Amino acid sequence: MRNPIVAANWKMHKTPSETEDFLRGFVVLAKAGEPVDIVIAPPYISLAAASAALTQHDSIKLAAQNMHYEQSGAFTGEISPLMLREMLIHYVILGHSERRAIFGETDEIINRKVLAAHQFNIKPILCVGETLEERDAGRLEEVLTTQLKGGLAGVSADQMINTVLAYEPVWAIGTGRTASSAQAQEAHAFIRSVLANLYDPETARRVRIQYGGSVKPGNMEELAMQPDVDGALVGGASLESGSFWEICRAAAAGATRKASA
Ligand code: 13P
Repeated sequence: MRNPIVAANWKMHKTPSETEDFLRGFVVLAKAGEPVDIVIAPPYISLAAASAALTQHDSIKLAAQNMHYEQSGAFTGEISPLMLREMLIHYVILGHSERRAIFGETDEIINRKVLAAHQFNIKPILCVGETLEERDAGRLEEVLTTQLKGGLAGVSADQMINTVLAYEPVWAIGTGRTASSAQAQEAHAFIRSVLANLYDPETARRVRIQYGGSVKPGNMEELAMQPDVDGALVGGASLESGSFWEICRAAAAGATRKASA
């Protein structure tokens, strides 16, 4: 049984003081504890404030939204895995479709980052997903296979178990148009079959695959009931503590119903 993992990707939202405000409210909601792993990914500049706000709440983990693959050097404006590690950052989102489309990140660059993250014991959340044109052209499986093979090159089976995948269909991000639970399940099952080929069935069975794209409190439970959906990577609906907490609870409820089905 895989424990669901729900992560808040705040993208370029929330200053350090807004981050403190959010977490002050969120830790009150979360104090009862829920059977999901909760991860919050603020902008780099808000990580220190988030880390301070969570000192008494170490079950809530922090993620960075990106990082460079070198540990130091002449890379103006970049942040290294060494720096994140010192801040006790447990996860890093890599290969988000906005990084791919807007900042030109290729599978090769993303792969270097994935390998660097593991070197520094930071767990990557590797994002994959197709555009609407690719889906309509019948290229879903080809695109996912290329992104998985490219992004995971050189990743060992042990490292794979400590990697989270996020299936984020580009057409569902920020559009209000969620993939149906059947579409999500189909893609997640396919991703798991690619992992079984690249590694082995047992490794594939253990890897957690999040769904991302217009996740809301109202659609999380049904998504989380799908056999291969293990939580969510949430953008817009994670910016308000009450809404993000409802999503965490719905993911837990879906996982419980799935386990007892
Ligand atoms: P939305 O939840 O706003 O659609 O964003 C999804 C996403 O990109 C999370 O990484």
